[in-house]
Amino acid sequence: MLNIGLIVGSTRPERFSDKAAQWVEDTAADRSDLKLTRLDLREADLPFFQEDLPPLMSGGKFEHPKAAAWEERLSAFDGFIATVAEYNYGPAGVMKNAFDNALNGWTRKPIAFVGYGGVGGARAIQALRVTTSGLRMVPIGPEVNIAADTFMAALTQGKPLGGFDHLNAALGTLLNETVWWGNALKPARNAG
Ligand SMILES: Cc1cc2nc3c(=O)[nH]c(=O)nc-3n(C[C@H](O)[C@H](O)[C@H](O)COP(=O)(O)O)c2cc1C
Repeated sequence: MLNIGLIVGSTRPERFSDKAAQWVEDTAADRSDLKLTRLDLREADLPFFQEDLPPLMSGGKFEHPKAAAWEERLSAFDGFIATVAEYNYGPAGVMKNAFDNALNGWTRKPIAFVGYGGVGGARAIQALRVTTSGLRMVPIGPEVNIAADTFMAALTQGKPLGGFDHLNAALGTLLNETVWWGNALKPARNAG
């Protein structure tokens, strides 16, 4: 059983990310190969990066208590799934900042993306693939894109995401691939 952190990647009051996270949780609830735990960036309440040293120079030691707690919290997980909002063709600033405020808790773990927006968060996800590669993570190929009419139906008419077959199929593939990489990387990571 893999421990997977479900990052709720936006923090504004009426965020859509809650709907996306709930759907991922509901879909994964019956699986015996992974256990999801929410990592809500609203609760993490991270400072904008404030460390004296870049993480690679400090060895991933964070002085700010909330950043240190975030780094420590991430260490418990075998991989991650992130809900991804697209703000101005990129990820939300709070999401990028969450990646900057940890190092060892991310490294050598898979991360999968569930994006939403006009083009399903595709541009924000592309940017996060680069960022997470910099952290020596493994960005999972299959992604979920809640896009266009589907996104608008969920956003403005309250249509449940689980009512869309193409989204359920994409999420199933994403979960399978996350588990595959999680199982592949865990023993290698533990071996040092
Ligand atoms: C500052 C800002 C910029 C946005 N830029 C984009 C964008 O570039 N592409 C897009 O598809 N949607 C964009 N949107 C619309 C978002 O997709 C939509 O508001 C979504 O619900 C945001 O995610 P959230 O509710 O989890 O915060 C933007 C929204 C905000 C608040």
